Amino acid sequence: MTDMQSEDIIKKLNNLIEIDYDAIAAYKAAIERLEDKQLKQQLVTFMEDHKNHVTALTESVRLSGGNPADSGDMKKILTKGKVVIAELGGDDAILKAMKMNEEVTNKSYEAMVDEPFPGTIKLILQNGLADERRHRAWLDATIEQISS
Ligand SMILES: [Fe+2]
Ligand SMILES: [Fe+2]
Repeated sequence: MTDMQSEDIIKKLNNLIEIDYDAIAAYKAAIERLEDKQLKQQLVTFMEDHKNHVTALTESVRLSGGNPADSGDMKKILTKGKVVIAELGGDDAILKAMKMNEEVTNKSYEAMVDEPFPGTIKLILQNGLADERRHRAWLDATIEQISS
């Protein structure tokens, strides 16, 4: 497998940055809607993880000579974007919607870690994927707990 061209690296990382921005917006909407304070606090830490992803990926795009994306995309790649989340009632429904979003972020990072990125970027993507998997696992477990 040959190394990736800068142009390709920049395009793929910017796509992830946009997804992370959309995820941050969805988390923000979810945090505003949730009733349970502990759930709110947990989602705040996940939102912070996504902000850290944006920071790290933004730096990588710059170092690759590109212009980093600075907002979410308009293609609505997330299953449940911020507008949908803002309309939901009930903590259970909100967590389920966020879980569907995390399926998207997990798939997106999973696809990226298999690409031939330079080592430093690969590490950032692997760390990001570990966060996304943790987010999804927590949502899975918590939804289970709430509905049993
Ligand atoms: Fe992320
Ligand atoms: Fe996540």
